[in-house]
Amino acid sequence: NSFEPCDFVLFGTMGDLSRRKLLPSLYQLEKAELIHPDTTIIGVARQEMSKEDYIAEVKSNIEKFSDKALCEDTWNRLCERLDYICVDMKDINSYKAFDDVVDPNRVMVCYLATPPAIYGDICRGLHGCDIIDSSVRVVLEKPIGHDLDSSKVINDQVSEYFNESQIYRIDHYLGKETVLNLIALRFANSIFATNWDHNCIDHVQISVAESVGIEGRWGYFDDAGQMRDMVQNHLLQILSLVAMEPPATLDADSIRDEKLKVLKALRPIDVSNINDVTVRGQYTAGFVKGEEVPGYLEEDDANTRSKTETFVAIKAEIDNWRWAGVPFYLRTGKRMPTKVSEVVIYFKRQPHNLFGDSFNSLPPNKLVIRLQPDEGVEITVMNKIPGLTSSGSMDLQKSKLDLSFSEAFSEERIPDAYEKLLLEVMLGNQALFVRRDEVEQAWNWVDSILDAWNHTAEPPEPYQAGTWGPVASIGLLARENRSWYESK
Ligand code: BG6
Repeated sequence: NSFEPCDFVLFGTMGDLSRRKLLPSLYQLEKAELIHPDTTIIGVARQEMSKEDYIAEVKSNIEKFSDKALCEDTWNRLCERLDYICVDMKDINSYKAFDDVVDPNRVMVCYLATPPAIYGDICRGLHGCDIIDSSVRVVLEKPIGHDLDSSKVINDQVSEYFNESQIYRIDHYLGKETVLNLIALRFANSIFATNWDHNCIDHVQISVAESVGIEGRWGYFDDAGQMRDMVQNHLLQILSLVAMEPPATLDADSIRDEKLKVLKALRPIDVSNINDVTVRGQYTAGFVKGEEVPGYLEEDDANTRSKTETFVAIKAEIDNWRWAGVPFYLRTGKRMPTKVSEVVIYFKRQPHNLFGDSFNSLPPNKLVIRLQPDEGVEITVMNKIPGLTSSGSMDLQKSKLDLSFSEAFSEERIPDAYEKLLLEVMLGNQALFVRRDEVEQAWNWVDSILDAWNHTAEPPEPYQAGTWGPVASIGLLARENRSWYESK
């Protein structure tokens, strides 16, 4: 990794992702003095616009999407780096504009915050103006494809011009502090490192719930659904980090090799077991946080016959030595009661209960890793209630050891995932980016589930907005005498 100057080129600089996330993140990196003093930032979009207008646009944008008032010093430094070029990304001749703004002797980072359908055009355009060499890095946003075949097409288009060591595929969950902390928790603490397998763990739950609906993105979302939008990437990445073997080092390929092995070991789900291990749902009208919201089929632009799922629950199994017999229950949905992402590790019960007749009176230990919001790590333990009793009995109570990030690290601001990822690209570290084989392996598993759903032709089960999903999702665990963890 090296802290060196680069030309950071932001394709799609006027788009939603750039406005909401990328430009505010660059501003935060500037504030933390984590951008090399000689780095330039070049916005690229189709609109004709002067550099001054672009700068004004970026400023008002950062003001809108940052949580605090603009710091003049930071802004002045950032503003000095900004430039803008107007490029019709599909027109190869349009790329001549790059000659005037990029320095061929420096690293160039091309962030493609554009629809994946034009990744190929952009790579071809850059190649046409002869600025691609081995020092250029290209950053790709999801979705990489709609299924395995289409992801291969996109990856092939990009790899015609870039080799894998130059390609940075974003899964923004990998930039979240608490997701990164999974690696620290597991491998920097012997109490977890040695208890992390089928001998000690009963099952694992991974929930990523959102209270928002599809936020004006009906067209995109209806084509994708929650499985492609969330499970194929974010949930499977979290699962891989929770389940992977210890990597030999923290370098990019050591980590990615181990994650890939987990994805390869996922037991296939197909028509033979689809109804036993998956549940999909679609929200109907209801109340979220006291506000009345429409159902999925009543959203603006909705096709009222859509069978697209807005909720998914899956019992996943990893067929390897470490995880034999340990289910990983995954759950994600839109319009749930609240936004919360958590990993919950349920340890096995003690083999014998010294403290009462009922086996159930001694609940298992749980490790709750709160990814967002209220980031933290919590362990439930049984504790003796202090005090004297006439019978001399030892009364127990479930208690929590609770590490809340906001209390433990009150001086630290938790950076947005994109700040971390932008920094890593500029440093040239691929560890937090998804390798081609991981993307393809994830599609392979997901495609089989989507095919099986198609085959059954059953519609998703309705669930009222503001609830935790269809009743069948409760049943998925209840039939194994388990239940979903209830978030705070
Ligand atoms: C995106 C999905 O990748 O992740 C969105 O496309 C989803 O549908 C978002 O809302 C959730 O991200 P976060 O960081 O808000 O949990």
